[in-house]
Amino acid sequence: KMIYYVTPTYPRPEQVPELTRLAHTLMHVPRVHWIVADDQQHCSDTVVNLLKRTGLPYTHISSPKPFVYKGTNFPRGVANRRAALSWLRENVQDGILYFGDDDNTVDLQLFDEIRNTKKVSMFPVGLIGDYGVSTPIVKDGKVVAFFDSWPGSRTFPVDMAGFAINIEFLKPSASMPYIAGHEEDRFLVSLGLKLDEIEPLAANCSKVLVWHTKTAKYKKPSLKINLQKFENSHKYESF
Ligand code: UGA
Ligand code: MN
Repeated sequence: KMIYYVTPTYPRPEQVPELTRLAHTLMHVPRVHWIVADDQQHCSDTVVNLLKRTGLPYTHISSPKPFVYKGTNFPRGVANRRAALSWLRENVQDGILYFGDDDNTVDLQLFDEIRNTKKVSMFPVGLIGDYGVSTPIVKDGKVVAFFDSWPGSRTFPVDMAGFAINIEFLKPSASMPYIAGHEEDRFLVSLGLKLDEIEPLAANCSKVLVWHTKTAKYKKPSLKINLQKFENSHKYESF
């Protein structure tokens, strides 16, 4: 089966390095279609150029967040994933859907695991919250509970990178809300998912194959500091 890898992205100094690193992972994966949903009014040339160079099958969607969500604590990547969901509904009947943010780190083994998802599969995500990992708890091969440092009155307290879905199981009712922290849970609930239907992967959720890595924000240095540094290094070199 084809894996549809859905990546929300937005313009910032870290965008090209993040997408480059992710592209180089995806280029090792057979049968993967990269859906890159761009949080801006148009599909940026920077992203298109990068996508073309991968040689991967891809779909590039312009999916700006609605104006009302441009504040500070907005739910990130929602307009993007919604746009990808409608594209999938119109164009794809068969395959696996995975939400892979542009800054995560993925082990190639994860792709082999999720490719056989029947309905919804789940697995641990590393570097999440205070516990350092967010994972389903498995007993006798079944998911019975969740280990996550922020339960937040959720039925499925999991990270966006912690599950994959068989596209046949994507109901017309499937939707993702603009509510920070509840996107994953509400989406899974909207699929009508039941706890005993979850397929635990990664050796009964005992292995971490994906990490919620974060890149430190680049801070533009002031011109003054820059010049000082340049003068100092120049002096040093001329002695
Ligand atoms: C966590 C989860 O892993 C996300 O899947 C979830 O969407 C997010 O929280 C949330 O609840 O808001 P986190 O690492 O905190 O993610 O957030 P980012 O990595 O900054 O953003 C998630 C995705 O949305 C990224 O792929 C990012 O490129 C994209 N994004 C972010 C946009 O498309 N637009 C933005 O303005 C910001
Ligand atoms: Mn992130």
